Amino acid sequence: MRNGKKPRASQLKRWHAAGGKIAAIRPAADPEPSRALLKYARTGLPWVTLKGAISLDGRIATATGASRWITGAASRRCTHRLRSQVDAILVGANTARNDDPRLTVRLAGKQKKSPVRIILDSHLRLPWTLRLFSRRKKPRTVVATLEALESRKARALIGRGVEVWSIGSRRGRVDLEKLLRRLGEEGLTHLLVEGGSEVNTAFLRARLADELVLFVAPKLIGSDGIPWVRGLSVPSVARALRLSHLSSERCGDDLVLRALFAPPSLARGAPPTQV
Ligand SMILES: NC(=O)c1ccc[n+]([C@@H]2O[C@H](COP(=O)([O-])OP(=O)(O)OC[C@H]3O[C@@H](n4cnc5c(N)ncnc54)[C@H](OP(=O)(O)O)[C@@H]3O)[C@@H](O)[C@H]2O)c1
Repeated sequence: MRNGKKPRASQLKRWHAAGGKIAAIRPAADPEPSRALLKYARTGLPWVTLKGAISLDGRIATATGASRWITGAASRRCTHRLRSQVDAILVGANTARNDDPRLTVRLAGKQKKSPVRIILDSHLRLPWTLRLFSRRKKPRTVVATLEALESRKARALIGRGVEVWSIGSRRGRVDLEKLLRRLGEEGLTHLLVEGGSEVNTAFLRARLADELVLFVAPKLIGSDGIPWVRGLSVPSVARALRLSHLSSERCGDDLVLRALFAPPSLARGAPPTQV
């Protein structure tokens, strides 16, 4: 969430209960609701921003899975700022395993703004040695899985201070819509999805993304690299996923592209996130 004071959970629930009629119940002193809040109030679901750091030819990693660092230092600073503006950040199991990320905000004075970290791990196969699961003081960390909370692996993770959410299955993997609903119930209104490729594709196939922020580096990796998005089974150009409100700006040597997924039913008139 961005732009000013963050509303309290009770306020969010009141807005949602009022069926999104924020104007009718918002006291004059309340902050102007962001588009994330507007979507939450209408649907109970968080706003979903997909973010990627890609080469000019749309790759997020080399064939060996190496992705550090495709974009430059300025783009990485922008990413940390973006993280500091959202409530939760999500990655897939392969990204957690390959990159061993911290998914924290590492900007002077903003370290306390680290969002809740969500990791998709259908069968709790990730090693406990990952930095995300370290026993040291860490931001709230959630593993979304198909496994039961009573399972040995789940209990071990819980013992390490990690929350385990047992979410329903869709095609053998974590059901993303159910996960978004759970995030909404927790009062988390803006989710940043940081890949990788399978996760981006799953959000797009399920039409669950609202916004795209791509940091594009002037580099070529080639078709053996890992693509930002995989097959979407688009039968014709006319049926391609459409985006609107496209904007671009320079960030160091990179370009930042922002756009909203169309039809922007929940985002009408809202400019894309500024980072
Ligand atoms: N440049 C960038 O911006 C960037 C960002 C992130 C990652 N990366 C790179 O991307 C690569 C990893 O991408 P990837 O495509 O191999 O894997 P991924 O998207 O990181 O993870 C996919 C895995 O997540 C789990 N998962 C659980 N529920 C899912 C669901 N509903 N939809 C999709 N996945 C679900 C599945 O594993 P289980 O079945 O085990 O649960 C699935 O195989 C790494 O090389 C990393 O460096 C680059």
